[in-house]
Amino acid sequence: MKDLTPERSSLDPIEVASRDEIEALQLERLKWSLRHAYDNVALYRERFDAAGVHPDDLVSLADLAKFPFTVKDDLRAQYPFGMFAVPRDQIARVHASSGTTGKPTVVGYTAGDVDIWAQVVARSMRASGTRPGDIVHVAYGYGLFTGGLGAHYGAEKLGCTVVPVSGGMTPRQVMLIEDFKPSTIMVTPSYMLNILEEYRRQGLDPKASSLNVGIFGAEPWTNAMRAEVEAAFDMHAVDIYGLSEVMGPGVANECVETKDGLHIWEDHFYPEIVDPETGEPVPEGELGELVFTTLTKEGMPVIRYRTRDLTRLLPGTARTMRRMEKITGRSDDMIILRGVNLFPTQIEEALLATEGLAPHFQIELFREGRMDAMRVHVEPLLGHSDAVEQADLGAELQRRIKDMIGLTVAVELAEPGGVERSQGKARRVVDNRPKP
Ligand code: DLL
Repeated sequence: MKDLTPERSSLDPIEVASRDEIEALQLERLKWSLRHAYDNVALYRERFDAAGVHPDDLVSLADLAKFPFTVKDDLRAQYPFGMFAVPRDQIARVHASSGTTGKPTVVGYTAGDVDIWAQVVARSMRASGTRPGDIVHVAYGYGLFTGGLGAHYGAEKLGCTVVPVSGGMTPRQVMLIEDFKPSTIMVTPSYMLNILEEYRRQGLDPKASSLNVGIFGAEPWTNAMRAEVEAAFDMHAVDIYGLSEVMGPGVANECVETKDGLHIWEDHFYPEIVDPETGEPVPEGELGELVFTTLTKEGMPVIRYRTRDLTRLLPGTARTMRRMEKITGRSDDMIILRGVNLFPTQIEEALLATEGLAPHFQIELFREGRMDAMRVHVEPLLGHSDAVEQADLGAELQRRIKDMIGLTVAVELAEPGGVERSQGKARRVVDNRPKP
């Protein structure tokens, strides 16, 4: 793999600023953001008043902990435009995140917000190893989802040639990569596996492709998956994080030279980690729920927004800004099986360690008597069709999962191609338990 470390001189000045400089900027921006939210969004004014806090009470960064949280249901209750902090005609763009049920959550951006979003995505891409002039294949979905357009504007801002493919039509994705020769692909990691499968189906060598960098996010993925994709394509696989409520992709990104967690672009997004049960800040470096406050967003500022994503904050390495560890999972995705907590990412890790199985999987939850039970659907790689070998592969995965979580779960091997393929964000868990 090529060394794609960006030149220090190409970074934004704030990326090389000292902690003191970053914190001074954060404090100034945080004061503005609290004031802006309080003055212009009824929900924040009511919440702050009810909690007996006022934007003037923020004197230091630590004072933020006195302010109330915002959760997804708050945003949903303000559907569609109740969270906007500027008159509607100053909103240049809306996006929405698909709720599993009912109405989506709507987010709005001023023209200034769209520009800052493009800047942070451009910064993320540069950190990933993409350069001005590169061809960038965007296979994140375009539409109300922030992935496609977020990546697109960032790539344009960096000065790249953008190929706005969006998701789906996998054979065509391969054709466009082969013909246009992009150096960078931006796509969910699970959909990248489909593209890889299609390469093999067409008898093409993925290593010979033009791709040098994959910028993968929108769903949890493991370092084992990184190793798999990097080896298959001979490319760097870098993690990008974001969520529509806070901005979209580009809230945090790994640096290609270290790949040791995601640097949070702290000049625009202020992170905290709290105990998911009590909401209290956890000690530095401990695992908990990630909470964000936007520092510069005009259209729809969010104050202490509970992401439900579980991670820990770490000091900076390749940049001064702090890192978040690769996300273990969302608190909503945590499976509690016979008292044991587990995340789909743990199954991914066990699966990728089992040679002979394909990297696609789906977890099924069902009821067995009065107990909850779990079945992992996987499939063998092509060329592993022997029944005895398949039984061994299933048993090996079962043992690895048992070693990891201490429970025996059922493993079912489907025919090659039998496990549902991701078209964007993979559906990792299918819950067939009777509804309470
Ligand atoms: O998924 C934004 C995005 C698009 C990020 C493209 C990266 C690339 P939402 O649809 O609002 O926005 O979903 C946000 O997805 O709270 C996490 O649970 C999950 N997520 C996003 N990035 C990562 C990541 C976009 N790198 C939700 N690792 C978030 C793990 C991620 N989970």
